Amino acid sequence: MPTRFDLPAGFRWGASTAAYQIEGAVDEDGRGPSVWDIFAARPGAVRDGHSGRISCDHYHRYPEDIALMRGLGLDGYRFSIAWPRIQPTGTGPANPAGLAFYDRLVDALLAAGITPMPTLFHWDLPQALEDGGGWLARDTAYRFAEYTQLVVDQLGDRVPAWITLNEPFVHMVFGYALGIHAPGRTLMLDALPVAHHQLLGHGLAAAVLRERGHQVLIANNLTPVWPASDDPADVAAAAAYDALHNRLFTDPLLLGRYPDLSAFGVGGDLGGSVRLGDLELISAPGLDGLGLNFYNPTRIAAPADPELPFNEAEIEGVPRTAFGWPVVPDSLRELLLGLRDRYGDALPPITITENGCSVDDRVAPDGTIDDRFRIDYMASHLDALAEAIAQGVDVRGYYTWSLIDNFEWAEGLGRQRFGLVHVDFETQRRTPKASYAWYRDLIAAHRARL
Ligand code: NOJ
Repeated sequence: MPTRFDLPAGFRWGASTAAYQIEGAVDEDGRGPSVWDIFAARPGAVRDGHSGRISCDHYHRYPEDIALMRGLGLDGYRFSIAWPRIQPTGTGPANPAGLAFYDRLVDALLAAGITPMPTLFHWDLPQALEDGGGWLARDTAYRFAEYTQLVVDQLGDRVPAWITLNEPFVHMVFGYALGIHAPGRTLMLDALPVAHHQLLGHGLAAAVLRERGHQVLIANNLTPVWPASDDPADVAAAAAYDALHNRLFTDPLLLGRYPDLSAFGVGGDLGGSVRLGDLELISAPGLDGLGLNFYNPTRIAAPADPELPFNEAEIEGVPRTAFGWPVVPDSLRELLLGLRDRYGDALPPITITENGCSVDDRVAPDGTIDDRFRIDYMASHLDALAEAIAQGVDVRGYYTWSLIDNFEWAEGLGRQRFGLVHVDFETQRRTPKASYAWYRDLIAAHRARL
């Protein structure tokens, strides 16, 4: 038996990707430049000068990739729609050729028996909107709702559930506070309006989706936060970090209010960005599902750097992924139970929208890739998930990150491989790894038990 626990009937198995990480074809069919095209061209921004210019060439090879999904027996596929394919400058009428690509993709998925679950924004903002302030500008939230309408009008007859945003925390911190991701701004705490404007965009887009009878989810990367010790200074620092990383993005959605960020010297209006009525829009009338991207817990100590009220501490004595991320599967169960305790009846059903790990995968001389580290990672996290379900948390599905190796943002191509399928970026050859067969068998075994 691949995992020790049974998951409920109706539990959905999937895999995830994102447009800029796999599509390539950045100049085709009228696509406009995104912040990632511009950022990746900056010397030193991405390892080895890589970009998503070609990446997995999924734009042309999607039939082969859907055949791989079909081979796994997936119920669902989470992908993202590239806003600059739909509106090359972020405003105005839809580009028919851009919509046509997603039409083809959705039709091919449905023909393979796979439910499409698109993410509307996975970090590739049209550069023209960034030139007008990007997510620092309130206007971007309204543009996002318009773009959503164009997409839903086209695909809504075939797509039941939508994810508005992917990891708004990471986009704010890496993109606007630290400059590690596009658009490469280094505003530190002055980036906070990016949180509010993304959430406002979510609220406005959710209204568009709901009006048309669709289900609405958001994908947040939440992390259990552990104080480095019982010392009250460490405990306070951990609480401050939890407010910033987790509650800043779930409290407004589920409780209609922002957490207390006074430890950061920030008031409830998030740098003056919150206006009357915004929180009602963001929280109303609740989510149909909370997407959870889960990778690891976080350990926090009192600050060393006086600029911030926390300091990230090492988690010792656990395995690490190729990225160096600590592997602590039971922390997924802890996170899920913590969410249920905090939000109670306000917590919607959860879907794991990402979970997986980067492995230094080696192709053996016989062409096989024995990624047992990834199999152990997934199996142990599924065990933790099943435990949480047994303890009463409503989790409806698991989408692994990722179907295929892809462009891992600032780490470029080939260094951090997350796929169940290996991609040779020179030849575009796809080779299923051992984890692919394992996941396929797990899904089949789950179905056979029903
Ligand atoms: C989360 C992001 O959504 C995805 O784009 C990224 O590749 C994975 N984490 C792994 O870092």
